[in-house]
Amino acid sequence: MLRALTNAMATSSRRVPIPKNGVDYRNKIVLAPMVRSGELPSRLLALKYGADLVWGPETVDRSMIGTTKRFNPVTSTIDFTRSPSNGSRIPPPVQKESLIYRLHPTEEHGKLIFQIGTASPELAVQAAKLVAENVAGIDVNAGCPKPFSTSGGMGAALLQTPELLASILRALVKEVGEVYEIGISVKIRLLETPERTAALVRTLCATGITGLTVHCRTTPMRPRERAIREQLRMIAGICRGEGVACLMNGDVKNRDEALQLVEEFGADGAMIATAAEANSSCFRSKAEGGLLPWREVVHEYMKLALEVDNRWGNTKFLLSQLMPGKLQIYKDLAGCKGYKRACEALELDNLCDQAREVDERLGISEEQLRHFNEAIKKAKTKNKSAKAAGGQMGRDKSYGTNNKNLLSERGVGATPAMAV
Ligand SMILES: Cc1cc2nc3c(=O)[nH]c(=O)nc-3n(C[C@H](O)[C@H](O)[C@H](O)COP(=O)(O)O)c2cc1C
Repeated sequence: MLRALTNAMATSSRRVPIPKNGVDYRNKIVLAPMVRSGELPSRLLALKYGADLVWGPETVDRSMIGTTKRFNPVTSTIDFTRSPSNGSRIPPPVQKESLIYRLHPTEEHGKLIFQIGTASPELAVQAAKLVAENVAGIDVNAGCPKPFSTSGGMGAALLQTPELLASILRALVKEVGEVYEIGISVKIRLLETPERTAALVRTLCATGITGLTVHCRTTPMRPRERAIREQLRMIAGICRGEGVACLMNGDVKNRDEALQLVEEFGADGAMIATAAEANSSCFRSKAEGGLLPWREVVHEYMKLALEVDNRWGNTKFLLSQLMPGKLQIYKDLAGCKGYKRACEALELDNLCDQAREVDERLGISEEQLRHFNEAIKKAKTKNKSAKAAGGQMGRDKSYGTNNKNLLSERGVGATPAMAV
């Protein structure tokens, strides 16, 4: 009896060591990885409102490999960019590099976890090495149910190939975690039975990871279906026994609720996605004032988006998440093609001058857009006459509607950046 108790105490106090540049996920309420909704200004906003750590959006290994890393002196960010892979459909003066990942080396220092989409230990290591010295951890996405992820064997598909998933984690631990002294972690979903989930969690905990997040839904479950927490206590228990921190995820609404659920289910911390996407002041406790009105959150978000020259298309999308859909201003924003107009519509007068400068840098000021549209018109006319003369329509296609997105959403600004 005494031996059983001693053994239990020994295992429960075990902890996988947290590397020097890593971070312990214990006692943390964190921002979830979210494609589109987890870009830099959203992460900075979550940190401002008290998120303890922030996950970046899933970035696929192959899209990171081959990027150039630069310090951007205008935004004080580190940018990972590459030449567009679309066959250079925009003529040279307008053509800009595609921004694959942007992080803030000081504001996010020690708090950013880079999430990778991968199905290969070699590619995962190659991609993770590029960003390893600027983040506190690398997390493997083993929970995304979308076909673009699972069809390549990534995301939730990895739950069906646990040996492959474990080999990816082992490779990352050895070749990235140990070398850069950061933590490696994984985010999973529930399997169909507690027995299968338990076996998976044991396998993953044995790879040397420092943290595991469980999204308390199975792969086929849709986001609107309530998270199921019956397996959570068991998963947290296995993690504790193996010395791995366990974050719970799924339908956690705010910091106070997170702390209560963590206590109830024996997890080490909690991760919030949808509630933070709608209003990231959910990271403030009630004692700190709790949820803020949307106008205040939008104002703060806009300041951050401007500071880091966030792509307008992404900012516009985020604003649509942060604002109540029924308002007239929500509809007005839908027609805005840049920051200046948006700040005017939102009556953020103190930001209008900065907004004009950012529009210029992104190449989306009203004048730039007018020139661009004129160039498109001219090119179309030229191609029509070329076609009439028996030529190809190839270049005409290159001025399709996509170019608008490429100009406003993918350009990273013409500002020269320094390699780091
Ligand atoms: C817009 C959006 C994008 C997401 N992108 C990712 C992602 O890149 N990687 C990932 O592991 N999960 C992703 N998720 C899932 C969330 O991280 C989280 O697991 C899920 O939404 C459940 O948490 P919630 O109930 O708090 O929303 C995404 C969710 C949303 C809403």
